[in-house]
Amino acid sequence: MPTVPLEGFHVVKHALRFAPQLVHDIRVQDLDRTRALAARLAPDIAQELLARAVLADVGHHTGVEATGTLPPPDLTPLTRRSAPLVLVDSPRSPGNVGAVIRVAAAAGAAGVATIGPLDPWHPSVLRGSAGLHYALPVLRVEAADLIGPVVVLDAGGDPAATLPPGAVLVVGSERDGVGPALRARADLVLALPMRTGVSSLNLATAVAAILYRDRA
Ligand SMILES: C[S@@+](CC[C@H](N)C(=O)[O-])C[C@H]1O[C@@H](n2cnc3c(N)ncnc32)[C@H](O)[C@@H]1O
Repeated sequence: MPTVPLEGFHVVKHALRFAPQLVHDIRVQDLDRTRALAARLAPDIAQELLARAVLADVGHHTGVEATGTLPPPDLTPLTRRSAPLVLVDSPRSPGNVGAVIRVAAAAGAAGVATIGPLDPWHPSVLRGSAGLHYALPVLRVEAADLIGPVVVLDAGGDPAATLPPGAVLVVGSERDGVGPALRARADLVLALPMRTGVSSLNLATAVAAILYRDRA
C-alpha cells in the first residue's frame, strides 16, 4: 500500500485517533517534550503515541513525525450518503484542499472528492487538513462518477437556496470557479450573500459556511 509522511504533532494525533492501524514508524525528537505536548493537547492518544514512538532526528518543529498508509479507497459516498459529499473542482492550492477536508470532517460530511491533477493525498494537503484525511473518505474522481443532486456553490447563484441532505456540494477553483462540465450538471446553484464590492470568499470558507448553515 502507498504511504505518506505524517508531519507534525496534529497530523499524527488525528491519524492515530481515527485510524491507528494505518500509522507506522512514529518518531519523536524528545520524549519528555512529546509527553507534555500530548498531555496538554491530546490525552486520549498520549499513551499510544508514547508507547509506539522511537527517538529520532525529526525535522518538524513539533518534534513528532510518522508514516501513514493510505486507506483503501472507500467509494461508498459516491453512491450512498445521508450527508453532503464535498467536491472540489480542479483546485490549485494544497492548503485550500486541506482546509476543505478539515472542515468537512468537523461538520460531518460524507467525504471529500477532487477533480483534476492535484493529488488530494499529497503531503501538503495532509498538513493543511491536520491529518483529518483519516476521519473520512478522501478521493480523486471523475465527473462521471457522481450520483445524486448536484449543488454548485457560486457567488452568482440563488442566495435563498439551501443544501439538500446527501447532495454533491461542488466548490470551484481559486481562479476559475466551477467549470462548465459541472455547471451543466447542477440541480441548484447556491450563493452566500456578500457585501457589495466583495468578489468572492475563499473556497474553503464558502464550504465551511454552507456546511454549518445547512447542517441537518
Ligand atoms: C475564490 S472563489 C472563485 C472565484 C472565481 N473567480 C469565480 O469566478 O468563481 C472559489 C469558489 O468558492 C465558492 N464561493 C466563493 N464565494 C462564494 C459565494 N459568495 N457564494 C457561493 N460560493 C462562493 C465558489 O464555489 C467559487 O468557485
